Amino acid sequence: MVPTSDRSRMATEARASVAIRAENLTKEFKLAHHAYASLKGLLLSFLPKRVEHLVALKQVSFTIHKGETVGVIGQNGSGKSTLLGIIARVYRPTSGELEVNGRVAPLLELGAGFHPDLTGLENIYFNGVILGLSRKQVAERIEAIVQFAELEGYIDAPIRTYSSGMLMRLGFAIAAHVDADILLVDEVLAVGDARFQQKCYDKIQQFQREGRTILFVSHDMEAIQQVAQRALWLDKGVLRADGDTSSVVRDYLRSVQET
Ligand SMILES: Nc1ncnc2c1ncn2[C@@H]1O[C@H](COP(=O)(O)OP(=O)(O)O)[C@@H](O)[C@H]1O
Ligand SMILES: [Mg+2]
Repeated sequence: MVPTSDRSRMATEARASVAIRAENLTKEFKLAHHAYASLKGLLLSFLPKRVEHLVALKQVSFTIHKGETVGVIGQNGSGKSTLLGIIARVYRPTSGELEVNGRVAPLLELGAGFHPDLTGLENIYFNGVILGLSRKQVAERIEAIVQFAELEGYIDAPIRTYSSGMLMRLGFAIAAHVDADILLVDEVLAVGDARFQQKCYDKIQQFQREGRTILFVSHDMEAIQQVAQRALWLDKGVLRADGDTSSVVRDYLRSVQET
């Protein structure tokens, strides 16, 4: 028999090691079909609107422990970005439970969270503060962020003049320098050139050594297998598999070939 004090300590430790826990997570988007730009449309707009319900995630459950890197795979529209968006608190789940322990640095769509008319530098401040740093902490990291992003000559230009590669570099550099416990990476690395991608993978490895938690969405099965020990496979919003990366990737590729 384990003494009660030990048992409660063990329970506390088990809870403390959870980074992300999802239980029956469901997300439904409501798509209202609005009136057309015509007289008929105007008349139709007095009728009840047709609302389409789209279930992007269906009863998804999993637990990710601190220090794990988990790949998320699945065809387009399978709910990968929705899942990351919920973890980043961009969306609220329709039902189910989500526990997130630690500070999250989301790297979602390209340029998400950036203000096009502000300069690169202003966007670093803006995002750094949003992600939980003080202005002083941001100031201390500016040089490292700009250097990592390789944007020394462009940092005073408005973001709207940036290429997709530059946006990705800035986004990754910020996410990598805010001391987050959990890093969410949604596909964005694909727009970078091979050399910068390698630099991101090196940084990701450093995070792994530091015991941070990473959720990594990619269509690049080689990258997924190199980065993650474990993978989640989402299929039309349903969690089809959760396990060791090589077997989940193998089953996924097999199912893609069959369809
Ligand atoms: N903001 C939104 N409003 C309405 N529907 C959305 C929204 N975001 C995603 N969806 C829908 O939810 C489903 C899952 O999308 P998504 O999570 O982006 O998939 P993935 O990232 O795997 O390609 C898709 O059918 C998509 O059209
Ligand atoms: Mg997506």
